[in-house]
Amino acid sequence: MSNSESVRNLTLKIKRYDPESGEKPRWEEYKVQAEGHDRVLDVIQNVKWYHDESLGFRRSCAHGVCGSDAMRINGVNGLACKILVKNLPNDVLTVEPILGLPVIKDLIVDMKPFFDHYKSVLPFLINDEPAPTTERLQSPQDRARFDDTTKCILCACCTTSCPPFWGDQKYVGPASIVNAHRFIFDSRDRGAAERLDILNDTEGVWRCRTVFNCTSACPREIKVTQAIQEVKRAMLTGDINLENPEVVSISH
Ligand code: SF4
Ligand code: F3S
Ligand code: FES
Repeated sequence: MSNSESVRNLTLKIKRYDPESGEKPRWEEYKVQAEGHDRVLDVIQNVKWYHDESLGFRRSCAHGVCGSDAMRINGVNGLACKILVKNLPNDVLTVEPILGLPVIKDLIVDMKPFFDHYKSVLPFLINDEPAPTTERLQSPQDRARFDDTTKCILCACCTTSCPPFWGDQKYVGPASIVNAHRFIFDSRDRGAAERLDILNDTEGVWRCRTVFNCTSACPREIKVTQAIQEVKRAMLTGDINLENPEVVSISH
């Protein structure tokens, strides 16, 4: 049942782009009514269903799991399905595609460069030792070592909020480093040296200038900058055990 007190009359500004039209990107404005408990994704779907069916955007789960609806919302990267209308600071809402990746149409960007970077850090378990008869066992402490970086859903909010990435799309980007971290510090893995070698490159971890946009943008609240610092430190010390990540000194 609708609660009239929570209804908001929004002015939604969406950056539109249709390469087939030959026209430059433009801002299109829509007047949309939304409930406080609606998500930004609902507002965008409202535009597509009732105002302009040609609007292009990605979504799948609508519950912050698949990572497909990353966009720049009021100038900040986020998942449209995780931002509630009642938390918007005012009734003007701007939505545009994430930065640094080619725009295919409207809010849809080409994710191939992002996934090429991801694949470049070998984001899978490497271990050629004979398989044990049971699972490859791991202590709870060893599992906890990389727990934070297992939460990544590859939404690209971090990488496309990173100024060094905006300036140089060859930079592997924070999402790739997070996923390298997930395996570098896994006690069952044997590919750390290879991954550290890949990331010890002018387009690897040293491009990071600890701007922290990535950490602020991550919808999974992963400590992205800390993970990058830990990878840098492993590279410098040659120590991948690093049992106490808290000793890595960074400030927010
Ligand atoms: Fe998204 Fe966070 Fe993974 Fe970056 S680290 S891709 S922001 S979930
Ligand atoms: Fe970019 Fe995050 Fe480093 S925003 S500069 S990857 S701390
Ligand atoms: Fe899946 Fe938003 S639609 S994370």
